[in-house]
Amino acid sequence: MNISPYRIFSANNSNFGSFSPAFGSVERSFAQKGTDGAYKKVMNNSWAFRGELDWRANATLFASHFKDKKHVDTYSLASSDGSEAYMLAISLIETLGEKEARKFFPIKAFDNDEYIVNIAKSGKWNLLPRDYENLQKLYGNIDKYIKKSDKPMLISNDKLAGATQTYEVSGVLRDAVEFRQGDLVSEIKNIDDEDGTALVFCRNVLPYLENLKISTAQKVASLLGMYLAPGSIFVTGGYDLSLTDLNRNLYLRDFKHVNRDKSSFVYVKTDPWAES
Ligand SMILES: C[S@@+](CC[C@H](N)C(=O)[O-])C[C@H]1O[C@@H](n2cnc3c(N)ncnc32)[C@H](O)[C@@H]1O
Repeated sequence: MNISPYRIFSANNSNFGSFSPAFGSVERSFAQKGTDGAYKKVMNNSWAFRGELDWRANATLFASHFKDKKHVDTYSLASSDGSEAYMLAISLIETLGEKEARKFFPIKAFDNDEYIVNIAKSGKWNLLPRDYENLQKLYGNIDKYIKKSDKPMLISNDKLAGATQTYEVSGVLRDAVEFRQGDLVSEIKNIDDEDGTALVFCRNVLPYLENLKISTAQKVASLLGMYLAPGSIFVTGGYDLSLTDLNRNLYLRDFKHVNRDKSSFVYVKTDPWAES
């Protein structure tokens, strides 16, 4: 199928999967003061599994794409409770083995909400029972990553409280991720990528940034274009693509959407001067 790079993604379009979550880890909303001084509603919602995201296919792609690189600088921007970074770490370890996966670690996970960063740093992870089953179905024995905790971790305003089980995150997984408070725009500017060795996740967040969603996409895509070298990878979400003009803006900065059949929203930065 020939898909125009400039088409606007639609959440209802089956080519791109669905961004409805399969299972949940946290559903928390809160008021946050914006740069204009006004308060806006922000969601910390995160899920270990989302309908649109094929963890195994993505990890296989990252492993092969970066096979000749000694180190990859991996980021989870807008990391919420850590579900995304943990799923990425588990998928890389299960795909590459622990030793080889280490070149992607530590995953630098940033969220600007201090409360949820502290939840992530606690070394606990709330999952619905189906999350656990799904993880087991995907990778078999996952006891080396998480074990049931006797003490539930309570997250304020979490609609899933009571439905989730709290797990302790093992040393293997904790060592793979570093959680810090940080604004995603500033953190993109801190990426030091000269040789195409960055892997940047920034998913399901852009529509929260401001009301002018088109300019958000322009700003983020142009920063990515400036700070990522050809060969680096950017991964976004269905929510960002359907509600902002991100896809077109990424193409304007030489990012190409790959792995489309898996609807995984993975973009590779290309070199516009390369000879074809
Ligand atoms: C809906 S959650 C998405 C979490 C995760 N990326 C995922 O897809 O499951 C959005 C997260 O973005 C965070 N956030 C909002 N604005 C941000 C910013 N400017 N910089 C970093 N994080 C931000 C919120 O605190 C929230 O935890």
